[in-house]
Amino acid sequence: MILITGSNGQLGSELKKFYRGDKVFFTNSAQLDITDLSQLNRWFSEKNITKIINCAGYTHVDKAEQEKEQCFKVNTHGVLNLSQISKEKKIPLIHISTDYVFDGTNHVPYKEHDVVNPQSIYGESKAESEKIFMENAFSGVIIRTSWLYSEFGKNFVKTIIKYGRKRNELSILYDQIGTPTYAYDLANIIYHILPQIKNNEKDVYHFSNEGVASWYDFAIEIINIKNIKCKINPIETAKYPTPAKRPHYSVFSKEKIKKKFNVKNRYWKEALKECLSKIY
Ligand SMILES: NC(=O)c1ccc[n+]([C@@H]2O[C@H](COP(=O)([O-])OP(=O)(O)OC[C@H]3O[C@@H](n4cnc5c(N)ncnc54)[C@H](OP(=O)(O)O)[C@@H]3O)[C@@H](O)[C@H]2O)c1
Repeated sequence: MILITGSNGQLGSELKKFYRGDKVFFTNSAQLDITDLSQLNRWFSEKNITKIINCAGYTHVDKAEQEKEQCFKVNTHGVLNLSQISKEKKIPLIHISTDYVFDGTNHVPYKEHDVVNPQSIYGESKAESEKIFMENAFSGVIIRTSWLYSEFGKNFVKTIIKYGRKRNELSILYDQIGTPTYAYDLANIIYHILPQIKNNEKDVYHFSNEGVASWYDFAIEIINIKNIKCKINPIETAKYPTPAKRPHYSVFSKEKIKKKFNVKNRYWKEALKECLSKIY
């Protein structure tokens, strides 16, 4: 049986489209809190869990600047619990990390071995979670992803649709460059690589959709596909300060994951179009 934690989030919800039937436990934070070791131990002693996909995370990037303790509790303590159980029970673990572990000073796509230098509390907690995984888990993979969106939960795509319909103009950053990732495509990748993970193998991989965009480009594409009459104005990060600093550039190289697991990927605009057909 596969245990999926944080399954009410964007990624967890998309994974439900791939895993059906009785081979999977989907757990939300009320059913299984990854920071609660005794609850975790109970789950693992009562059920025959053979694989873990950790979709649970503290993901409020700006709020984390004020809530460091809570952010670290979920993103590091929770991951330590799962990693130690993975080791004890010899269970592979898939853990999800982020482009925010990088400082964004690169000018070419980030490779997995590039030096991490997080610029925010959230980024620090995720970088720390990677170390914890590497030092403690039995086997498995860390998948770093970026700019995740889906038809579920709150995300940039849904925010642009909401405010684009309410306002005549929106100002969006054009100087932060990355790649959007449809959570459905990440779920598909996880579904394909989980059976390929070998015992005692632990590694980090990058996955986003293909191509490059600024938040401005991303917003324009959303507005155009949805035929929303709203003018998108480009603005600079300096004119829109946020509590948490974000990387100016966080495009990933995806060569490693494609080569190792023989997985396919698609252009971000194609994936976006499919997601938007599900959002009204
Ligand atoms: N969103 C992005 O743009 C992005 C980008 C790069 C990487 N990532 C990473 O990708 C992963 C999935 O992201 P997502 O967008 O799917 O996140 P999400 O929609 O915010 O979902 C995270 C889920 O984790 C649950 N959770 C929080 N604390 C928990 C705990 N102590 N125990 C169990 N569950 C807990 C939350 O449940 P409650 O709502 O009940 O608290 C929520 O359902 C995360 O690791 C995130 O860091 C996200």
